[in-house]
Amino acid sequence: MQADIEEILVSAEAIKNRVRELGAAISRDYEGKNLLVVGILKGAIIFLADLVREIKIPLILDFMAVSSYGSSTRTSGAVRILKDLECPVEDKHLLIVEDIVDTGLTLKYLVDNLKARHPLSLKTCTILDKPSRRLVEVQLDYCGFTIPDYFVVGYGLDYAQQYRHLPDICVLKRDIYTNGQ
Ligand code: IMP
Ligand code: MG
Repeated sequence: MQADIEEILVSAEAIKNRVRELGAAISRDYEGKNLLVVGILKGAIIFLADLVREIKIPLILDFMAVSSYGSSTRTSGAVRILKDLECPVEDKHLLIVEDIVDTGLTLKYLVDNLKARHPLSLKTCTILDKPSRRLVEVQLDYCGFTIPDYFVVGYGLDYAQQYRHLPDICVLKRDIYTNGQ
């Protein structure tokens, strides 16, 4: 496992501190509001689990799962809903929680799709932002870290479904994802 990692980009300690700040900001901004946190499976689950424990106001959780067509390291832009929300949204303030915003295509699709259901408000939260590869503009209301164009794994992020459980956000060795493709 360690042999597949080039370097630690964001340590578990740094993540913890930043997630605490994001939780505090969200707690302030949504005070007195009916908050629905929408976790995007599977990548956001570790971040989501840490984030909601730093939010000190009432909230409910729901999940969506989407698949982006394309190779394992590049998104094509076509998005398909694999699992939809279970709760109605018209009476709620929605906060989408994502793992990483890269081209922006996945989050843009989710924002457009959820806005069309007329929630009271809709904001976005991501632990990582990779702005250098953005193809569509999408507003990030809460962002953990802005990173350069590295392919990263850990803290929920995968390569071929592996590495999600690593506690740090790590740069994967390039030959791991270029071999055999
Ligand atoms: P986007 O639609 O290009 O913004 O891509 C969003 C999705 O691509 C994320 O939710 C991830 O699943 C995946 N992704 C993009 N960059 C990375 C990365 O560096 N590591 C792991 N997954 C990534
Ligand atoms: Mg994802």
